[in-house]
Amino acid sequence: MTHFLDIHKTDPAALRRMIDDARTMKGARDGRPHGATDDEQPLAGRMVALIFEKPSTRTRVSFDVGVRQMGGQTMVLSGADMQLGHGETISDTARVLSRYVDLVMIRTFDESVLTEMAEHADVPVINGLTDRTHPCQIMADVMTYEEHRGPIAGRKVVWSGDGNNVCASWLHAAGQFGFDFTFTGPAPLDPEGEFVGLARQKGSRVAIERDPAVAAEGADLIVTDTWVSMHDSQSAKERRHNMLRPYQVNDALMARAKPDALFMHCLPAHREEEVTNAVMDGPASVVFDEAENRLHAQKAIMRWCLGV
Ligand code: CP
Ligand code: NVA
Repeated sequence: MTHFLDIHKTDPAALRRMIDDARTMKGARDGRPHGATDDEQPLAGRMVALIFEKPSTRTRVSFDVGVRQMGGQTMVLSGADMQLGHGETISDTARVLSRYVDLVMIRTFDESVLTEMAEHADVPVINGLTDRTHPCQIMADVMTYEEHRGPIAGRKVVWSGDGNNVCASWLHAAGQFGFDFTFTGPAPLDPEGEFVGLARQKGSRVAIERDPAVAAEGADLIVTDTWVSMHDSQSAKERRHNMLRPYQVNDALMARAKPDALFMHCLPAHREEEVTNAVMDGPASVVFDEAENRLHAQKAIMRWCLGV
């Protein structure tokens, strides 16, 4: 079974093919309306379940539209409305869903829900975000970087802020796509050591730098994300904000990077917290291209999973 669970668990050649396929499919749409189908209909006759145990705008809409453009059908399920949220086991849910649908995308809390679903499903499973990683986002982000600036291999990507699930998938991508990665943020919010080690093992130069101004020096890309993720307790909000305030991405930080450096954020953004309006809406920002490319990258991921 070809699951898409994480970037570091997927063969680098397959990842490269998915990015290239996504660009080809994007180009082939030729400016047609979003509701129009693609010329090719690789998902014709296929049913895709999209399960959400957390809120979503981009993941939900981009997967739904992507499946329809490729000729398939979708059903969007909220975890709370399923028996899964009322005591049915993940393995039983996986077996049942496999009798109805051809592909499952799930956004959940603990990573074990995703891995258990994948273990027991007879159809491919895609990770639509867990507390630990967000691989579909970073596939779209790598695609976006390369559209604007060419190959990402050898570039310097700087993450400023919380070493969270999105940061983790960037680290995985550093190892697989061969770019360097600098994390700058407070020590209690460092990314997982295991993921740092993995990227280094694969030849990526990974640095942890407490001073954001030093970290941003010579960056090709600066990335950040919300200071409080969906899985974080709201009671920790004030403490996290106090720790993370020095790591806000603003014009002063962008000025330390290369003159043609880009800015990315997976969205949703909390403007004037982790990033200023000036950067979000400024010339370096490609945040809405990232959002668009979720659609194209995920179409390529689904085709790869289904082998179509
Ligand atoms: N970036 C992202 O995954 O957005 P949603 O939470 O809106 O899906
Ligand atoms: N780190 C954020 C990403 C949202 C797309 C979260 O998990 O809430």
